[in-house]
Amino acid sequence: MRVLVAGGAGYIGSHVVKQLGEAGHEVVTYDNLSTGHRWAVLYGELVEADLADAEKLDRTLVQGFDAVLHFAAHSLVPESVREPLKYYSNNTRNTLELIQGCQRHGIEKFIFSSTAAVYGTPSMIPVSEDTPLAPVSPYGASKMMSERILMDTAAASDLRYVILRYFNVAGADLTARIGEAHEPETHLIPLLLQALSHSEEVFAINGDDYGTPDGTCIRDYIHVEDLARAHIDALHYLSDGGISDVLNCGYGHGYSVREVIEAVEGATGRSLPVRVAGRRPGDVAELVAANDRIKSTLGWRSEYDNLHTIINSAWRWEHKLAKSRRARKSAFNGEPRNLERR
Ligand code: UFG
Repeated sequence: MRVLVAGGAGYIGSHVVKQLGEAGHEVVTYDNLSTGHRWAVLYGELVEADLADAEKLDRTLVQGFDAVLHFAAHSLVPESVREPLKYYSNNTRNTLELIQGCQRHGIEKFIFSSTAAVYGTPSMIPVSEDTPLAPVSPYGASKMMSERILMDTAAASDLRYVILRYFNVAGADLTARIGEAHEPETHLIPLLLQALSHSEEVFAINGDDYGTPDGTCIRDYIHVEDLARAHIDALHYLSDGGISDVLNCGYGHGYSVREVIEAVEGATGRSLPVRVAGRRPGDVAELVAANDRIKSTLGWRSEYDNLHTIINSAWRWEHKLAKSRRARKSAFNGEPRNLERR
């Protein structure tokens, strides 16, 4: 198939591009490189452009695609609270632009990256897809609105979609060719690994007074390779005539922040000084996915449902990233030199 991947240079998108390329699909990545990286696109052409650039988007879509996968979005919850319009314009409005483009160019298969943030503070764990949506942040709301636009468009046209609601994505390509490279980094596992690399750092746990067994927040961590494969499965599902659906992406069990810290210490053989800081605004005590629907609908199965596998892959990647950052610093060169495109 020939597929357009909007946001294919980002953390999750680039792992999907890699798997699409490995499976022999023809991929075009469309990315403005605001948070993505040229080096992360291992297969196919990269069109460097913004979704808000209607002319460029049209010139790209007119080339003809069997499906669109859409990852391009801002995803920092606290930033979304401070700058909501940035999220509604980049996430919601640009999704609308892309869906309109698909309609103009007869593209009828759409796979959309959504998030567990659409659930807000769920009253039941594990969270099923039928849980009423009640996002507490503009980020979650921007994704919820995008989902709705997609659903309404599909109801009124031949468009079919799979919406994937991600829980906590972590880990990296097992051979460390690509991985998470956010600036700033806000996610737990890369932050822990970075703190371990800087021996003077004391890691701050965001609250230990939640109603969980050890008082710290519980999350459902899914390996990025398993998540990426859910997209490939969704693409095959839609090509085989599958009807539109909304699917959680998680393993169905969670780990607390303290459990993740222990696992990181175990995997790396180093100990990490920690302190307990205040709660981070917007954090919910527990988020764990009900994942029966993705299994029955797509036939998706996890391959890397193991916290140590996740941490080990992230650790190898973190080493490579740290090395490239040092090289970049010394060379004053804008692009990591040892992260070359394949
Ligand atoms: N945490 C710390 N210290 C840190 C960083 C994180 O204790 O320095 C804790 C957080 O408070 C949270 C847990 O580690 O309890 C996981 O935090 P992450 O930032 O890694 O992930 P979140 O669960 O906050 O965010 C994820 C996605 C978001 C999505 C959100 C939905 O990354 O995109 O789930 O709730 F919006």
